[in-house]
Amino acid sequence: MKDSFGREINYLRISVTEDCNHRCVYCMPADAVPRSWNALKDDDIVEIVEAAASLGITKFRITGGEPLVRPGIVDLCARIHDVKGVEEVTMTTNGTRLKEMAADLKAAGINRVNISLDTLDEKKFRQITRGGDINAVLDGMNAAFEAGMSPIKLNTVLIGGFNDDEIFKLAELTRSCPVDVRFIELMPIGDIHQFPERAYIPCSVVLEKVPELVRINDKNDSNGVTRLYKLNNGRGRVGLISPLSCDFCGSCNRLRLTADGCLKPCLHSFEEIHIKGLHGSELQWALKLAIAHKPKAHAALSATERSQARRDMNRIGG
Ligand code: GTP
Ligand code: 5AD
Ligand code: SF4
Repeated sequence: MKDSFGREINYLRISVTEDCNHRCVYCMPADAVPRSWNALKDDDIVEIVEAAASLGITKFRITGGEPLVRPGIVDLCARIHDVKGVEEVTMTTNGTRLKEMAADLKAAGINRVNISLDTLDEKKFRQITRGGDINAVLDGMNAAFEAGMSPIKLNTVLIGGFNDDEIFKLAELTRSCPVDVRFIELMPIGDIHQFPERAYIPCSVVLEKVPELVRINDKNDSNGVTRLYKLNNGRGRVGLISPLSCDFCGSCNRLRLTADGCLKPCLHSFEEIHIKGLHGSELQWALKLAIAHKPKAHAALSATERSQARRDMNRIGG
């Protein structure tokens, strides 16, 4: 279905939990108490997917928090995958539980995952995730490969003074491994950690540090927000996601569903439409309303201009 600016909305990101076994400093407060009692039930989510698919939404992404901490997540993925009209179900995960779950997820129809990895250094990883173990993520990534998931994309949030010294090494990973590494500009969102101004660095820094990168245009993989590049002999690709320095809202194709049952027409807007408890034509109407209410673009974001979203990132799902 088209929105009021002519954009085809065919992608729904579904957050299935606010909880996570990490506490990344840019995403979630250290002392967050996830409200899992408030979460939509599996049946509610499947019903929303059915309504969305009936409006022409074909691509679904399961997010969190960390989706793999939700009990019964594999069965839920399989049910979403089976809904008529659904063409693709993918997942964004921190990777820590993929070692045990990747094969079952693949069997449930999840053919690819995006994994968060902000650093290759064990100590820095523990620091940014407030206690996480990088080896669990690397094992999870290997399990995803072994399960036959492809492409595997790594999400690296660029943080000046934290991981800008690793840009070259992270980009080089795409030469040795068939992974995509995507650098994401740090977004000032939610009530959490206040980063100093120098933490907000534009993605153009990646091109300065790795001038060998060549722009490519992959029409089969255009998600509206990522600019793709490649290294000479690269097996994977390098992606730049620039919500601060570059305006990609003109090609935005997505809606978001929060774990507590709100539709967000835009990641950075305060607007939310409560749909918990709606069924049938009311549910369809609410989805159409969310599409109609998609703003043309989000307000300016910068070190000093925070997102208008009234939630921390773990309560939206990225
Ligand atoms: P692919 O289909 O694999 O390309 O997935 P994706 O890039 O849509 O998903 P992913 O969950 O990996 O998102 C990557 C990052 O891009 C996250 O940090 C998101 O917050 C950010 N992002 C995704 N969509 C939007 C958007 O509409 N607006 C903004 N500002 N950022 C977004
Ligand atoms: N800025 C940029 N990216 C973020 N993510 C979470 N919080 C932020 C933020 N404040 C990313 C995570 C994850 C993706 C869904 O969102 O790294 O990979
Ligand atoms: Fe968890 Fe991902 Fe948020 Fe980190 S960014 S706290 S891994 S949901």
